[in-house]
Amino acid sequence: TGLRIDVVTIFPDYLAPLELSLAGKARDKGLIDIRVHDLRQWAHDRHHTVDDTPYGGGAGMVMKPEPWGEAFDALLDHEGDDRPTVVFTTPSGQPFTQAVARELAGKERIVFACGRYEGIDQRVIDEVATRAEVREISLGDYVLNGGEVAALAITEAVVRLVPGFMGNASSLVEESHEDGLLEYPVFTKPSSWRGLEVPPVLLSGDHAAIAAWRRDQAVRRTAERRPDLVSAPSLFDDLEIRPAL
Ligand code: ADE
Repeated sequence: TGLRIDVVTIFPDYLAPLELSLAGKARDKGLIDIRVHDLRQWAHDRHHTVDDTPYGGGAGMVMKPEPWGEAFDALLDHEGDDRPTVVFTTPSGQPFTQAVARELAGKERIVFACGRYEGIDQRVIDEVATRAEVREISLGDYVLNGGEVAALAITEAVVRLVPGFMGNASSLVEESHEDGLLEYPVFTKPSSWRGLEVPPVLLSGDHAAIAAWRRDQAVRRTAERRPDLVSAPSLFDDLEIRPAL
């Protein structure tokens, strides 16, 4: 069946590469169809106005409800079994993780709504929630100029999880964050470079020893760099190592 992704933005050029390169391979196989839409096509005044001053006062501008309402009217006319998922990219959303990417990769239809300015009129989110599954997602705890880069990053993480998109499925399970650990360090030829040697165990041909070394490196690296992951429940309960406190 495949995954259909629509992105609504006032900067469609910013996301144009999605329609081309990234979608290219998957689109040819019929796996993914990505379309980018300019929100201003749904703003009907002379200047295609999409923002206005906030009720209650304060700095910045708020995105008006009417263009968004029309955008969703046009894009949510689905003929699948699932309700479409609408993702609002916002620094106030749920943090984006590999687990969220996995959930989204299982959908048939995702519409990204990229907010700019100080955000979108809350009634837009409340109204669309009556006819779609709404997710508010943050790329991380920092502020971007708008949701476009977040939509791009989320799309890239999701698309590569769609079955058939990547050649080999085992390369997916072994990577960072799929098992809750960071990746072990990797090496390639030459075995000696500028006086630096590849760890001998990797040249030993002993597959069990190599797997044990890699696991140990991944655990150490995670404890060192991401104590937040180590202290998350259960994962490290049966391991010897604890983050330095
Ligand atoms: N828009 C602005 N900052 C953002 C962030 N951190 N995540 C998602 N959308 C955003």
